[in-house]
Amino acid sequence: MPTRLELRGLGKSYVPGKPVLHQIDLCFDTPTLTAIIGPSGTGKSTLIRCINRLVEPSQGDIWLDGVSLRQLNTEGLRQTRARIGMVFQEYNLVERLSVMENLLTGVLGHTPAWRAWLRRFAPEDIDRAWQTLGLVGLQDFVNARADSLSGGQRQRVGIARAVMQSPALLLADEPTSSLDPKTSADIMDLLKQVGQQRSIPVIVNMHDVALAKRCADRIVGMHQGQVVFDGPAQQLSDTDLHTIYGGRSWLD
Ligand SMILES: Nc1ncnc2c1ncn2[C@@H]1O[C@H](COP(=O)(O)OP(=O)(O)O)[C@@H](O)[C@H]1O
Ligand SMILES: [Mg+2]
Repeated sequence: MPTRLELRGLGKSYVPGKPVLHQIDLCFDTPTLTAIIGPSGTGKSTLIRCINRLVEPSQGDIWLDGVSLRQLNTEGLRQTRARIGMVFQEYNLVERLSVMENLLTGVLGHTPAWRAWLRRFAPEDIDRAWQTLGLVGLQDFVNARADSLSGGQRQRVGIARAVMQSPALLLADEPTSSLDPKTSADIMDLLKQVGQQRSIPVIVNMHDVALAKRCADRIVGMHQGQVVFDGPAQQLSDTDLHTIYGGRSWLD
C-alpha cells in the first residue's frame, strides 16, 4: 500500500494577517509523480516545507498514513522525518566525501551515533547503497568525491541518498533548476522511476512547465498561495496556465 499524505485546510502566514498559503486541501496516495507549478513566490517551497515541518503550518493539518504531523512530539517528528526523503536544488552533498559515504550518511537517522562518527557502517547498509547506486546509474562512481561530479551526477547522488532512507514519500524542491534541459528530463524520469519502483508518492516543485507536462502524472497549479488546478498533466490547458501564471507569459 502506498503512503497516504493528506493536507487538510493547510494555511501558513509568516507575518500575521498575510497568509502565503490559503486552505490547501490535497491528497497523495498513489505512486505517481506530482509536479507543483506556479509563479515564483506563490508558496511552493512553503508547502513542501510544511509537509516535513521545516516550516510550522499556521492552520490546518497534515496527515501521513493517518498520523497528524502537527501533533507529533520531538521523537515522533524525528521518526516521521526519517520516512520523508528530501531532494534539494543545490544537492546538499558533503563535498569532500565519496559518493558511497554520502549515501551512507542518508541512513544516519538509523545508525548509532558512534558508528556514524567512526564511519563504521553496517554491511547491510553498504549492500543497500550498492543497489541504490545501481538504481541511479552511478555504480562506477562509488569512490568519486562529490565535488568531482557533474550537476546531473550530483543530483543522482542526492536522489540515491534520499532513497537510502527507505522513504514513504519523496519530496523535491526545484531539483532540476541548476541543470541543463536534457539532464533535467533524465532526473525527472529517474524520480518517477524511483516512485514506481518503491511504490511511493513523489512530489516535485518546479517552474519548468514544459518539463512538468512531459514528466509528471499529475499537476498541481498554484496561484497566490491557492491551488487553482489539480489534474492529470495532459489536461493542463493554456487557459489553466493563464489562471496559474496570470497575465504573464508562462513561456518566459
Ligand atoms: N522564512 C520566511 N519568512 C518570511 N516570508 C517568507 C519566508 N519564506 C518564504 N516567505 C514568503 O512566502 C512567500 C512564498 O514563498 P515560497 O514558498 O518560497 O514560494 P515559491 O517556492 O513558490 O517561490 C513569498 O512571498 C516569500 O517571500
Ligand atoms: Mg521555491
